Amino acid sequence: MRTAAITAVGRYLPEDRLTNADLERMVDTTDEWIFTRTGIRERRILRDKTKATSFMAIEAARDALDKRSLTPDDLDAILVATVTPDMFFPSTACLVQAGLGAKDVWGFDLSAACCGFMFALNTGARLVESGRYERVLVVGADTMSRITDYTDRTTCVLFGDAAGAVLLEPDHEGYGVLDTVERIDGSNWQVLCMTGGGSLNPPTHETVDKGMHFLYQEGRAVFKVAVEGMAGVAEEIMQRNGLAPEDVRYLVPHQANLRIIEATARRMGLGMDKVMTNIERYGNTTSGTIPLCLNDWEHELRRGDNLVLAAFGGGFTWSAAYVKWAYDGVRIADFGSRNEDALVEVDPRSAIANPQ
Ligand code: ACO
Repeated sequence: MRTAAITAVGRYLPEDRLTNADLERMVDTTDEWIFTRTGIRERRILRDKTKATSFMAIEAARDALDKRSLTPDDLDAILVATVTPDMFFPSTACLVQAGLGAKDVWGFDLSAACCGFMFALNTGARLVESGRYERVLVVGADTMSRITDYTDRTTCVLFGDAAGAVLLEPDHEGYGVLDTVERIDGSNWQVLCMTGGGSLNPPTHETVDKGMHFLYQEGRAVFKVAVEGMAGVAEEIMQRNGLAPEDVRYLVPHQANLRIIEATARRMGLGMDKVMTNIERYGNTTSGTIPLCLNDWEHELRRGDNLVLAAFGGGFTWSAAYVKWAYDGVRIADFGSRNEDALVEVDPRSAIANPQ
């Protein structure tokens, strides 16, 4: 059977940090409130206004390709999950193609808020499984700082900017994206949305005055659905594939709130030592969270490890995937990663990440 295996991961993190202490000076909040309610200490911000989502996506894509010693011309398709495209059109995928200089490739953007990467991974896996495409790049990239209202304490503490990318290639030995669960439900879309700038509310002075070009969220309402939704799909994918808690090497959850992640792990019967979390350092990077986790933990992963990926997002959208990891983790330093200083810093636990 032909499956789609993840054969490389990459990422881009902007250098600038926005800490809870910075936010204390901007809005009526405290480090204590933010950390206990969300698990976030700091996030990265793409401050250079001449750069946007495609820039981060291109950097993450190059990182993944470099690690696999491939060139952009080796790609057949580029899928970009984002809710913060550089512009409505052309698609960010087109800008990434041009930035990479990839020839004979196609691709498109996919919009599913915090589930964007999961839906794109699912789509990319089907393209590879079909036998028609050999190498599909799946990028999750969001510049959330550009749609965040930094006078609204209920949302501005949550989000950060980043991009992550995975490469999908065919496998014939039973590794890769083995199963996915996905759902959408738009009946309560109003609790998490950005209503300005689209065809319903084209940009006017009024839409800008009302802040409709910013993300809007009713946190408490979203929280309840998020816990139920993310834990639900994670449990479903385990049951469907006969996975007991001891069979799972890692849960790779979307990083919206540490409390949501902990509730999901509890429902799956997993201790937090089996859960990838980096929300403390990056906040919620929307489409970036899951590939960022995979990148940060890559050196620990071994061929055959069972991973459960799970996400929840605006829409609402939910998704989980069962991934059998296809390669042994590698020394990060071997690759001269584009973000090596950040990589060393983000994983002080690992001697591998910090070679002498
Ligand atoms: N600092 C201090 N106080 C604050 C802050 C802040 N930054 N933000 C809100 N508060 C106050 C509120 O005003 C409220 O005060 P009140 O009781 O006097 O009214 C109090 O803190 C509690 O507010 P809640 O909203 O009930 O706080 P909660 O514990 O629910 O945490 C949060 C808020 C972090 C937003 C949480 O609800 C959450 O994580 N929701 C889900 C987010 C999510 O999963 N989103 C989906 C993905 S995002 C995407 O798809 C783009």
